[in-house]
Amino acid sequence: MYKISVIPGDGIGKEVMEATLHVLEAIDVEFDYRFADAGDEHMEKTGVALPQETVDIVKASQACLFGAAGETAADVIVKMRQELDLYANLRPVKSYPGTNCIFDNLDFVIVRENTEGLYIGLEEETDAGATATRVVTRKASERICKYAFEYAKKTGRGKVTAVHKANVLKKTDGVFKDSFYQVAKQYPEMELDDRYVDATAMFFITKPEMFDVIVTTNLFGDILSDEGAGLVGGLGLIPSANIGENQGLFEPVHGSAPRHAGKGTANPSAMILSAVLMLDYLEENDAARKLEDALVKVLKEGKVVTPDLGGNASTMDMAAEVKSKLES
Ligand code: NAI
Ligand code: MG
Repeated sequence: MYKISVIPGDGIGKEVMEATLHVLEAIDVEFDYRFADAGDEHMEKTGVALPQETVDIVKASQACLFGAAGETAADVIVKMRQELDLYANLRPVKSYPGTNCIFDNLDFVIVRENTEGLYIGLEEETDAGATATRVVTRKASERICKYAFEYAKKTGRGKVTAVHKANVLKKTDGVFKDSFYQVAKQYPEMELDDRYVDATAMFFITKPEMFDVIVTTNLFGDILSDEGAGLVGGLGLIPSANIGENQGLFEPVHGSAPRHAGKGTANPSAMILSAVLMLDYLEENDAARKLEDALVKVLKEGKVVTPDLGGNASTMDMAAEVKSKLES
């Protein structure tokens, strides 16, 4: 029985969470769920976006399923990544059938440094406007690069690309690039290269199949993963994992999508695929493949899918369809 903390959060986060928990009922793995609050609604009610109780519940669990926060995202998810030291943010970009992906042959992974960079949150108002501090440490850079190489090795991938802007951000991205090549020495069998982030943004559009594992700093990883989502059918389809030494937190890349909230039409795929990543993290790999296959069947058939996928099913209809594939 796995202890799983569950934070539905705000807007469509709650809807895709309900859908995913429904689907997980048909998986042959036992979960002991601990529900916890965080986000805009909790902030309105209590004046606090991320209560200590929630952090404690997550700390006491093996893994956390997180829906989405709204405007308080920086105080909730960004803070949780830092407080729990969930240093590796895994964001797969994978083409699934039946989605309006621009490329139907993609399968690469962005490994984003999750604890520092520009998202460290050191902003300051000045007379002229404001400044932000970008923190890049050798320790965090080496740790994330090592994670990327280990992940590539474990999942049978052959190439790791470091993405940076070391020609302009000479000191900060200099540290990141050096750390990458330092760590790479321990992986002589792995193909590797490094690219500038602006060129990478272009190659995502022109030649995305050249990427296998990308390792990059916090802000660049955030931007590139939304661009990656655009390549394979939109934010409704992209899951993510936040991995630390003791815990994993699994969440869709998308936010609370307030314009879609309350309508019951959000695509649950990103949250379901986040549960797939959680099952892999728990080394329940058979269950992970079964869940992913069930979702793929539903996507491929294209009959019971949400409006963003060209259908007219509700979030819960689509979840029920995935569940029925698991049960058949
Ligand atoms: P968003 O990801 O919530 O939505 C952007 C657009 O993507 C939506 O308008 C919709 O067209 C589409 N979309 C996203 N998820 C979808 C789904 N499951 N099914 C169908 N379509 C989907 O990003 P946005 O609009 O920039 O931010 C909305 C709120 O979410 C903000 O308050 C922001 O702070 C927060 N946010 C929270 C995140 C988190 O909790 N991890 C991450 C990103 C944003
Ligand atoms: Mg983002």
